[in-house]
Amino acid sequence: MSPARPVRRLTVVGIGAGDPDQITVEAAETLRAADFAIVAQKRDDDPLVAARQAVIDRHAPGLQVVAVPDPERDRSAAATSTTSGYAGVVVDWHDARAALYEQVLLDRPDGDVVFLVWGDPAFYDSTIRVVEKVLAAGRADFVWDVIPGISALQVLAARHRIVLHDVGQALLVTTGRRLREAVDGGADNVLVMLSARFDLDGLEDWHIWWGANLGTAHESLVAGRVGDVLGDVERARAATKASAGWVMDVYLLRAP
Ligand SMILES: C[S@@+](CC[C@H](N)C(=O)[O-])C[C@H]1O[C@@H](n2cnc3c(N)ncnc32)[C@H](O)[C@@H]1O
Repeated sequence: MSPARPVRRLTVVGIGAGDPDQITVEAAETLRAADFAIVAQKRDDDPLVAARQAVIDRHAPGLQVVAVPDPERDRSAAATSTTSGYAGVVVDWHDARAALYEQVLLDRPDGDVVFLVWGDPAFYDSTIRVVEKVLAAGRADFVWDVIPGISALQVLAARHRIVLHDVGQALLVTTGRRLREAVDGGADNVLVMLSARFDLDGLEDWHIWWGANLGTAHESLVAGRVGDVLGDVERARAATKASAGWVMDVYLLRAP
């Protein structure tokens, strides 16, 4: 009888939000021990694939990378203008991703695999949900773990040298899309990720701590009263996009 194949290990690894130095020893060792990595690629010259490659070159040179083209998401207004419509689009997108990842695992039945996840896998990233779908489908066999990474929100706090909330107070983490709802609901200390656009009308007296492309050579920071610095933020955002070719930003808003 041939010996049973060892169960493959799959690890979702948080790799930090842009700086290859901001990765834990545990994460680096896991990358070095893996046989190949799966990374989602949004387009041919996806800058985040290059950033992940920089992490690999620094911590696990030679690790084989399987770039999986990210399935198209339905971004039409009809599909995304309501919260339930948006949720439905995301479920379809996760299903499509799960099918692609499963295929890679079935095509390469041997070896331990890592997913390199930007920042920390627990914040606005669906790799964990997609891995659960692959597992639930029952065709690919593996055991799996998650390794935390440094999230953009932590880098934002460190760069501005702030605590993200006042003593003993709450922090609400949300998206740009849901900021208005958070403020209307009474939140007075809000951390915003995925800021597709700025809509800070009525918040002129709030304080903002903003950061873009944190941990990269194109990092940009602005802080101050919203009414005073919003123009600076918009200019810095545009300048970062022009110089780096991409921009991701995160900010904390606190009521006066
Ligand atoms: C898809 S979410 C992923 C978040 C990631 N899992 C984390 O923990 O940072 C992407 C959002 O994270 C924020 N982000 C990620 N990396 C960033 C960076 N280097 N600088 C500023 N914001 C960043 C932005 O709000 C961006 O829209």
